[in-house]
Amino acid sequence: MKSLSHIFENYDINSLKDLDEKQRIIEILRICIIEEYKASNLYEKLASIINNSKVKEVLLDISNEEKTHIGEFETLLTKFDSDHLPSKQKGKKEVEG
Ligand SMILES: [Fe+2]
Repeated sequence: MKSLSHIFENYDINSLKDLDEKQRIIEILRICIIEEYKASNLYEKLASIINNSKVKEVLLDISNEEKTHIGEFETLLTKFDSDHLPSKQKGKKEVEG
């Protein structure tokens, strides 16, 4: 399994320093949301291939906790990115009619 260094390989963290503070926060929150989804999916997939019920239970519990973290980061993103909520609402409207 990869260490956390893959996160730094996937994102040009240093270039974020060139952005103004608001844009840097928006980009960081988007990275955090992506990584939380990936972590949640990983734990769920790992849980699906083991038989030990305790380890499976903990993995699935943590997978769900990651979804809570997504909600936390999305709440922050809504505060900093004025396009986030309107886009989300537009998407909801397009799906639900
Ligand atoms: Fe998390």
